[in-house]
Amino acid sequence: MTDKKVALVTGGSRGIGKACALELARAGYDVIINYAGNEEAANKTVKEIKALGQNAAAKKFDVSNKETAETAINEILAEFGRIDVLVNNAGITRDNLFMRMKDEEWLSVINTNLNSAYFVTQPVSKIMIKQRSGSIVNMASVSGIYGNAGQANYSAAKAGMVGFTKALAKELASRNIRVNAVAPGFIQTDMTKDLPVDKIVERIPLKTLGQPEDIAKTVKFLAVDANYITGQVIGVDGGLVI
Ligand code: NAI
Repeated sequence: MTDKKVALVTGGSRGIGKACALELARAGYDVIINYAGNEEAANKTVKEIKALGQNAAAKKFDVSNKETAETAINEILAEFGRIDVLVNNAGITRDNLFMRMKDEEWLSVINTNLNSAYFVTQPVSKIMIKQRSGSIVNMASVSGIYGNAGQANYSAAKAGMVGFTKALAKELASRNIRVNAVAPGFIQTDMTKDLPVDKIVERIPLKTLGQPEDIAKTVKFLAVDANYITGQVIGVDGGLVI
């Protein structure tokens, strides 16, 4: 049990999620990172959070499975006593042209990127409602705002996150819970490592890919500092969507 504020970051062992976990630790939060499979990476991130002076734990569960997500969140509550910040970050891509898209590609992306937000946020929001405070940040994407050829599944899921963010912000505002989203552009992580960087950079007004820390700073701002901001989607994309 702890009196300190607690943050949960899904998909927090690497990439953007890891940067968010470290930034929230720097802001004074104990941080639980959820991870799907890579225990070594998760343990390394936990060590890095602890080195910042905060308590940390890694919790393995599949965010696209309602039962395991709910069980894990109840276990987190039992151990840490509260959840003040939730970052719905876990996500995957399974790109294909729509005419060739397989059921598995469509369903896995919708399950992991959108249904997960329902599975994880419902039990967490019950905790936040009891606390009468909380802040939720959802990871959207430029793809969910302007659409991306070859990513009908991903664009649909991320646009879903935008609608989810706005509806939930209205529902939970009276309980002192804020809900916002970040829409990253192209960020240098495992997810984008095989993309043609030179071609992409030409389209970005700031002429560079973003770093996970660029997203993490915005997530921390929305989660921690932005007391009067709810229902917003902040683009962090080097100007891509202008
Ligand atoms: P990444 O591939 O490095 O990290 C994704 C994380 O999600 C990994 O830790 C992975 O284990 C976890 N994850 C995947 N499926 C999971 C599941 N079923 N249960 C639990 N965890 C699961 O990717 P990156 O770039 O760090 O992405 C993080 C978020 O940011 C994703 O939602 C992604 O869609 C979004 N995003 C990323 C952009 C980029 O350019 N990298 C651009 C726009 C949005």
